[in-house]
Amino acid sequence: MSDEKKVALVTGAGTGIGAACARALAEEGFRIAVHYRSSESKAREVADKLPDAFTVHADLAVAEEVDGLIAELKERAGRVDVLVNNAGYNRNAPMPAMKLDDYDAVAAVARGTWYLTKLVLRRFMLRQKSGRIINISSVVGHTGNRGQSAYTMVKAGLDAMTKSLAQELAGRPILVNSVAPGFIETEMTEDLPDEIREGIVARIPQGRMGAPEEVADAVAWLATRASYVNGCVLHVNGGMYGG
Ligand SMILES: NC(=O)c1ccc[n+]([C@@H]2O[C@H](COP(=O)([O-])OP(=O)(O)OC[C@H]3O[C@@H](n4cnc5c(N)ncnc54)[C@H](OP(=O)(O)O)[C@@H]3O)[C@@H](O)[C@H]2O)c1
Repeated sequence: MSDEKKVALVTGAGTGIGAACARALAEEGFRIAVHYRSSESKAREVADKLPDAFTVHADLAVAEEVDGLIAELKERAGRVDVLVNNAGYNRNAPMPAMKLDDYDAVAAVARGTWYLTKLVLRRFMLRQKSGRIINISSVVGHTGNRGQSAYTMVKAGLDAMTKSLAQELAGRPILVNSVAPGFIETEMTEDLPDEIREGIVARIPQGRMGAPEEVADAVAWLATRASYVNGCVLHVNGGMYGG
């Protein structure tokens, strides 16, 4: 076990943007904790291709599983230097038609993200007196989006958490930032009907959706070289929206 190597925990790292973040942070020399909920084989595939990585499981909607994740990290890695809160969940429906269960399913991941962040701070970063927390929010938390009242509420809240936590931790060498992707080619967006996809691309000045690696690049920079950026939302969206 390489206890001295810095450890990055990436949630939802079996797929899409999370997998790209795991790869980008591994390139920066981190040992990677590849977290998954249901994508076990994909998470193993991601970890197997990295020089120093292991998988960890938890449904962030279940507090006991988050407790278990922290205990496992303590045992297997002994430290967490970077936390990338990438896991997210979405259900689309016009608000009058949306069920309370839909709202709860979306909000439960935000609750789990808050709880995981609190525990990573208490058990690791505050003791280590260093850390980087990067929250993956979304452009739609700023612009709004039809059919996404619950998702946009959660994502706007995540950026607010970034700002509050950065202020709480000011004076300690723990920096907290958000990366807000625009529309990125992942499983979350692959089922979009063609006409919706075309409508989205027409609103992107760069004329295309982004790649997960383009988001991961911003995450890697915030996790390593950025030393005077704190409480910020970095927009990665091909020019759709600048904040
Ligand atoms: N793609 C876009 O255009 C876009 C734009 C803006 C923001 N984002 C945000 O970027 C992040 C990554 O999304 P993606 O596009 O890469 O889509 P994705 O492949 O669907 O990734 C979502 C990830 O969240 C994890 N997850 C969902 N519910 C969870 C739960 N209850 N507990 C633990 N993990 C859970 C999933 O893990 P399992 O698969 O293991 O269940 C999955 O790896 C999300 O926060 C998303 O909101 C995406």
